[in-house]
Amino acid sequence: MPTLFLPIILSVIGASTIIAFFSFIADFVTPFLRPSQIYHFLHSAPGPSPSSPPLQAWALVTGTTAGIGLQLCHQLASLGFNVVLHGRNPSKLEQVQKSLSAKFPTRQFRTLIIDATSAPSAPDSFKDIVARLSDIHLTVLINNAGGIPSGLPASDQHHSAPYTPLSELSHSMIAATISLNLTFPVMLTSALLPILSHRNNGPALVVTVGSFADNGLPLLQVYAGAKAGLCKAMEAVGGELNIPPPPPNLVPSLGERKKEVLIHHMRIGNVTGVSHSQKPPSAFRPDATTAAKAIIARVGCGKTVISPHWGMALQSIFSDWAPWWVKQHVFGNVMAELRNEVLLAKKSG
Ligand SMILES: NC(=O)c1ccc[n+]([C@@H]2O[C@H](COP(=O)([O-])OP(=O)(O)OC[C@H]3O[C@@H](n4cnc5c(N)ncnc54)[C@H](OP(=O)(O)O)[C@@H]3O)[C@@H](O)[C@H]2O)c1
Repeated sequence: MPTLFLPIILSVIGASTIIAFFSFIADFVTPFLRPSQIYHFLHSAPGPSPSSPPLQAWALVTGTTAGIGLQLCHQLASLGFNVVLHGRNPSKLEQVQKSLSAKFPTRQFRTLIIDATSAPSAPDSFKDIVARLSDIHLTVLINNAGGIPSGLPASDQHHSAPYTPLSELSHSMIAATISLNLTFPVMLTSALLPILSHRNNGPALVVTVGSFADNGLPLLQVYAGAKAGLCKAMEAVGGELNIPPPPPNLVPSLGERKKEVLIHHMRIGNVTGVSHSQKPPSAFRPDATTAAKAIIARVGCGKTVISPHWGMALQSIFSDWAPWWVKQHVFGNVMAELRNEVLLAKKSG
């Protein structure tokens, strides 16, 4: 009797394996085949009075003085957006504003100076941001600022930074890392969502820039945790914007109907041409321009959380699917090597 069922059981297992394999391939490939929906967010709104011209679309990008954030500004301006350039260093921001204005004379640029590590402990800073953006037609927010905090007092910067064991991290470095990579983008998104979902602004787009470090990379533990938290928070926000509102008998009128806000969390791997790396680019280590183009290209790809560049997406298969003991071994060796490179570079001056 058992031998009678064996071919059936094997056929079911075989068919399920083939279906699972092709669904996996389709799930992997489809986001890369869909054209970007970024133009969906390049719309205008009526001016403040009937005689005033329509308001053009603006994007706010955080962390625009270097790396991926700077390249995102170039991409958005070339697509037709005016851009609010966020950063913490006024003179760097002024330089960026000048060079973007020279390259894109028909676009407008304005700066927003705020330190992402300290803003979350001064909640009025977000009210201030909202007030400063109240006169523009904001349709896109890109939360890009992030990384291992720099510019802290020397006592907080460890000699093997950024690859420092938890026991050797100062508490102010831990707090700054969480503020920069989790609290600031979440608070900024929460402050701006009412504007983005307002009937005049929608449809709107919110993108957060995450990291493969969220896999729990050793020696980047707090950064990894903050990016993992950001990934899950944005996934949840994407979900809550899609669920039906409570019935009117439970919550009195919520006022105006909200417009659609699309949420994406872009998980990225190693990128070069950024402030901490000028290594030559490769298929698995794109430069900041390629990474920025990939982020824009994946807008509207159908997934909230996505690795935007195909080389990164291939790497994420390993980090998402390998058994934990393989990951622990591989990640441990890679991170120890990176730490040793930093220590060697510091030793040799
Ligand atoms: N590059 C990679 O390999 C990689 C990998 C995974 C994830 N990511 C993520 O990608 C995003 C961009 O990284 P990137 O490599 O392009 O970094 P980057 O070249 O170091 O640029 C970071 C930008 O954020 C700004 N910034 C840093 N701390 C800030 C603060 N406290 N307040 C306000 N602005 C601040 C920087 O301003 P200053 O010029 O004033 O420092 C700069 O404009 C980050 O979220 C990072 O976590 C990068």
